[in-house]
Amino acid sequence: MEPNSTSGLINELRGRSIFLIGMMGSGKTSTGPKIAEILKYKYVDLDALIEKLTQKTIDKIFSEEGEEYFRDLETKCLQEIIKLPALVVSTGGGVVLRKENWGVLRQGIVIWLDINKEVALNRLNKSNGDIRPLIKGKNIKRIYEEVFEIRKDIYSQADIRVEINNEDVKSVAEKIIKHLRQEIYN
Ligand code: S3P
Repeated sequence: MEPNSTSGLINELRGRSIFLIGMMGSGKTSTGPKIAEILKYKYVDLDALIEKLTQKTIDKIFSEEGEEYFRDLETKCLQEIIKLPALVVSTGGGVVLRKENWGVLRQGIVIWLDINKEVALNRLNKSNGDIRPLIKGKNIKRIYEEVFEIRKDIYSQADIRVEINNEDVKSVAEKIIKHLRQEIYN
């Protein structure tokens, strides 16, 4: 199948799931559905799934049960969804922290949305604290820099790194598909 056709790419993927990783504000949740649409995959947002299963916001889980409890839920959900084929999954920014999660992520294709810091900060300053207790009411820039410093080498272990600036969702999705194509055909 010729490298430019989407059906060719879908064939080559053979149902392997796509995991979007990256910092808070990198656009995983907004881009994921568009990529799923292009690949004719199903879409899962890991944070939304956790909120649905627990009937609590991420913020509430953190404040009532603590971060470790949330991380356990995150790992359990990841282990469940990998049983299904052909998913685009938007993960929470901290999913990369647990080594055991990589055993799951590696069963699919891991794409790092490497967002420009200023663009991410601009988004996070306007964002809803319910899913982001790590930055809620805090100095967002300082926390962002601290968190990124800890995670950047882990994110860089992704199969594909896509640099993101302030492009719209469609452009980011197209950019990701282009990188995916290069990874699959090269
Ligand atoms: C987190 C990111 C959040 C959410 C939780 C923890 C993190 O998801 O999972 O607040 O550790 O970076 P987003 O990356 O979608 O903001």
